[in-house]
Amino acid sequence: MIRAGVVGASGLAGGDLIRLITQHPDMELTFLGGSSNIGRRPAELHPNLRLDLGLTVQPVTEEIADQVDVVFLATPAPVSAELAALLADRVPAVVDLSGAFRIRTPELHDRWYPKVKRRTDLADRFVYGVPELVGDQLTDAALISLPGCYATAITLGLAPLTLGLGLDLKTVVVDGKSGSSGGGLQLRTPDLHPFRSGAIAPYSPTGHRHAAEVGDFLERGKPGTIGSLTMSAYGVSHVRGLLTSSYVFTDDAVDQRELQRAYVRFYKGHRFVRVRRHAETLIPVPDPQAVLGSNYCDVTVLHDEDGDRIVVLAALDNLVKGAAGQAVQAANIRFGLPEETGLTMQPVMPA
Ligand SMILES: NC(=O)c1ccc[n+]([C@@H]2O[C@H](COP(=O)([O-])OP(=O)(O)OC[C@H]3O[C@@H](n4cnc5c(N)ncnc54)[C@H](OP(=O)(O)O)[C@@H]3O)[C@@H](O)[C@H]2O)c1
Repeated sequence: MIRAGVVGASGLAGGDLIRLITQHPDMELTFLGGSSNIGRRPAELHPNLRLDLGLTVQPVTEEIADQVDVVFLATPAPVSAELAALLADRVPAVVDLSGAFRIRTPELHDRWYPKVKRRTDLADRFVYGVPELVGDQLTDAALISLPGCYATAITLGLAPLTLGLGLDLKTVVVDGKSGSSGGGLQLRTPDLHPFRSGAIAPYSPTGHRHAAEVGDFLERGKPGTIGSLTMSAYGVSHVRGLLTSSYVFTDDAVDQRELQRAYVRFYKGHRFVRVRRHAETLIPVPDPQAVLGSNYCDVTVLHDEDGDRIVVLAALDNLVKGAAGQAVQAANIRFGLPEETGLTMQPVMPA
């Protein structure tokens, strides 16, 4: 059994990690960490988890190294940065869900994470953990930084164009729409029910740090592949799930049939990315509702001849494929298990 610790156990991503790990056949939850909920049981914090695990939330010290093989950090980025420094080289694997170690380019990191002082010695050792794209690097990774929820959808949507077809993307404009759970449990006025219910809130109309992260990762092998990548983000009224629409302009010649084939080929053997035709079901896909509770990312690619653009749509559950599910998937690969272990649940619909 792989002994797993979850720090941020009271939070939204932490709660989903507990849900998934307690159903995992080869993982055992041995530590729960936090700061303001010390002494609380998971059942007190998460109404859906009436589990008797014999664990309560505890402060994180280096002594937890004796209790765990892997620690999931579901904590704010500045906290993850401190805890990673404490636990690196003491615990066999640290999987960080925050943005603390996602961006490799120092200037970009400092621009988007000004409160997280970059520690080069640690930052350069983290593997950016999109399992479908870097799987072999995860097998012996001691430090894994997971992409953000939007970034996972955008990256999985664009990778077949850049890494598969080798296209140069002159301009990419991303429109992202996310439910309220994407922001965690911090209390902010726009997220209060009277304002969030029914909203289509343009909370980040120009610039989003997840766009920076996508460009930083996709251009690692071939700088200059993406001319510009910009994003506008909207909060919508549902709780879980997000949809990204990437509008791609390229001078390279493409057609619908070639694009569809390329996407299917690129994700062959990767069960968590479902390449879907827009009208293949009665309800058009990808639809965040059709992936809720699952580790799937549904991706659709369309060539819009009128606008001479490629439209890439991607939907996922931000707390599963965008956070806890992807974390478990990465840890499975790290510990030599089939990547789908403990993650084969089908989506719930209607939500
Ligand atoms: N929400 C999403 O959809 C999503 C998706 C992908 C990635 N993420 C990332 O995952 C991380 C957690 O997000 P979330 O939405 O779950 O946030 P959240 O619901 O606000 O939970 C934050 C957690 O961090 C813990 N924490 C805060 N300060 C701490 C400290 N000094 N020491 C130990 N624990 C501390 C809190 O524990 P106490 O309550 O005990 O203080 C709480 O459990 C963030 O970095 C976020 O960017 C979130």
